[in-house]
Formats: sequence, structure tokens, C-alpha cells
Amino acid sequence: MKVRAYPAFSLSLIAAFRVFAGRSGCGILVSWNFFCHANSENAEGETLERIDLNDYDRVVGAFERRFGRAPRWVVRAPGRVNLIGEHTDYNDGFVLPLAIDRAVWLALAPRGDRRVEVFSLDFDRPAAFDLDDPVKEGHDWDEYVKGTAWSLIQAGFRLAGWEGVAWGNVPVGAGLSSSAALELATARAFAAAGSLAWDPATMARLAQRAENHWVGVNCGIMDQLISAAGRAGCALLIDCRSLDCVPVAFPPGVAVAVLDTSTRRGLVDSLYNERRQQCEAAARWFDVPALRDVDRATFDRRAGELDETTRRRARHVVTENARTLAAVDALRQGDAGAVGELLGESHRSLRDDFEVSSPALDAMVRHAAAHQACYGARMTGAGFGGCAVALIDAAESRAFVDAVSAGYQDETGLVPAVYVCSAADGAEVVEHG
Ligand code: GLA
Repeated sequence: MKVRAYPAFSLSLIAAFRVFAGRSGCGILVSWNFFCHANSENAEGETLERIDLNDYDRVVGAFERRFGRAPRWVVRAPGRVNLIGEHTDYNDGFVLPLAIDRAVWLALAPRGDRRVEVFSLDFDRPAAFDLDDPVKEGHDWDEYVKGTAWSLIQAGFRLAGWEGVAWGNVPVGAGLSSSAALELATARAFAAAGSLAWDPATMARLAQRAENHWVGVNCGIMDQLISAAGRAGCALLIDCRSLDCVPVAFPPGVAVAVLDTSTRRGLVDSLYNERRQQCEAAARWFDVPALRDVDRATFDRRAGELDETTRRRARHVVTENARTLAAVDALRQGDAGAVGELLGESHRSLRDDFEVSSPALDAMVRHAAAHQACYGARMTGAGFGGCAVALIDAAESRAFVDAVSAGYQDETGLVPAVYVCSAADGAEVVEHG
């Protein structure tokens, strides 16, 4: 058995600590991962990746206990946070997410038949299905596994059976794409077990198809594509029409903080679908395939003819696409201050024009943006609850995390989870025999 990735030579300096305090068993979970860069090169020029051996050991140990043998492969696929470019993916626009150092892991070995058996450590529950007849049974975690198998089969891939153990540390329901991570880990597992060609964009499309048509969530392509194609140390500028991905490095000394408000909102799917429909209606009104095709000048010229709601929704998408491209330019110039300004504008546009923020997200963004270490902050993901994202001075991460956590908790009475994350690689086989 060959381990492809070791943390030993990583430049990573990892400091993590947890403070559990407070109310009814929950508490502040604060962790710091300070990274110089997630990728480095050793003397032989081999790329060394950072893998957290605790995560790796957990799934391997659980696999060995459950199946009495060693796994043949260990795969992981990350969650994501979106820096800017929100609600633009299903408008064929631009997004700038990064894969984060939280992932879904799968340890697996081949079976002699056409069954898949997976045990989830998170849900403490087994699931099994037949590759010749996957059946949708409910809304549990295993539907993401089954749906991905179904989608690969529909696309003509010949799948092989396997048994495995799954574990993840992407918080569920927080807007960090735990479901896309599970779909891409599953796709990576099938690719390993069946010797399938791995093309990140193709696999992302098929995972999105599983989410749209099997799970029944009408998401865009961003979450699956960043989980498939993420690049360590970089955000990815994704053109959601062509699916071209361009890595954009962070300026030295700049870190990304994820700020979980601890709020989760029901009905997100229907509100999300409503926004999609409003955008599609606006594109039809402009007589273009998608709002991506409306530039600012055209919008300004014709905005007065639109009804109020359509005008606001379209204005958000048109301006957000422009902000995303401007943020890429600013990052390339090392101008974190300019990126921060754009994050602030994005938040106001999502709050006032697209109307997908919430009082908790607004409070979190206010506390983050007011801190001197912060270049800018905004809500991230679908909205209505979940997480904000901030660009901060890495040297002051600790003070930022402490102050923003305390300020938010004082104001709202809610216990947040704030962590500084590093940009990770996309879905990969970590070990193969
Ligand atoms: C969710 C969806 C994505 C994207 C974002 C909003 O995360 O899954 O496709 O639309 O919301 O940017």
C-alpha cells in the first residue's frame, strides 16, 4: 500500500484549539489553522500535500474494525466557502470559491459483486444498495451516494461494487457544501474502484445532476465544481458557462475566515428556487440566454422598464459578476483592501437587492467588518442563515476570531463557530494499493 500524501514536509503550522463553553452542552468552537501554503515542494520536486492524519486514521481504523481488512483506497473531497460571486452560478456567471480544509473522507475496498455498502460514522448508520437497481428511499445522507451512482450509470460509466466507511468534518447545513463533498467523495470512490477516467468538470456536472434530479435540490454548479477541482493555496475563478477554472492565489499574509452564525433556516430550497425563477424571468425579459449576458450599461439603460423586484434581482447578478472579476484583478495585484471593499458591496447587494441575508448574517458581517484585522466580509452561500466569510490579516487571526465571536455572541445570544481556513485541493485519492 502506498501513501501518496504525507504532512511531514508541509510548511503548515497548525494550531488548533477548542474552547467549549456555555450553554446546554454547546459552546464556542474556535479553531485556527495557520498555513503558509498548503502545497510545497521537496528536494525531488515532488508535490507534497497536507493531509490531516487524524482524519485519515479515523476512516482507515473504522474500516478495519468494520470489515476486518485494510481499505484499498482512501479518498477525500472538500467542502467550500465562496469568497465572492453569489447567486451567479445558475445565471451562467462567475464565482470565486475555495475548497476548504474540511472534507468528507471515504475508505473503501472492492467487492466481488455489484453492491455498495457504506457505513457513515457521522450518522452511525449503514446503507446498502444494488448498482443494477438503485432506488430512492427518502432524504437521508445515503441518497447522495446512491444519486451519484445513478448519475454516473446514466452517463454510461460502468461501475464496480465496493464497501466503505464515510466520515466528514464539513458542518452539515451550514452552507459549506457538505452534500457536494459527499457526492464528490462518492464519485472519486467509484472512479477508483472502477478505474474510471477522472475529469473534474465532468464529475462535477454528474454530481450536480444527482443533486438536481435524485436528491431534488435545484443547485447550480459551483459547489460540486470547487469540490472536484479546488487548488491548494488558491481560490478558483469559475466561469459557470464554460466551466473554465482559473486558480487565483491569495496575497501573502492574507487569510480567509469562515464565520458560522449558528442559524439554519428552513424553506431555503423554495426561497432559492424563487430567486432562480426571478433571474430566469429577467433573462427572458432581456431576451438573452442568462443574466450573464446583460452588461451594466444595458442594465442601466433599461432598468426603468422593469418591475421593482425583477430590477433588484437582475441588478444584483449583473453587479456581482462585475465585482467577482474585479476581485480577481485585485487579488492578482495583491490589493486585499480592494477585495475587502468588493466583499462589503456584495453583502449589501445580497441584503438589499437579492434579499437573501438575515439579521444574524448582517450582525456577523458587521462585527467582522468592524475589526481592524478585517479587509471585508459578507454572507456566503445560498443565504438566509449559515455562514459569512471574511478576508483578514493572517497575523491577527487570533484577535479577530476572539473579538468577533464575543461581539456576535453578546449581541445575538447565539454561539458562533469562527475558524480561519486554508484553501485545499479538490477531490483526490489519498491512498491506493
Ligand atoms: C448554493 C447552491 C450554489 C449557489 C449558491 C449561491 O450553495 O448550491 O449552486 O447557487 O447557493 O451562490
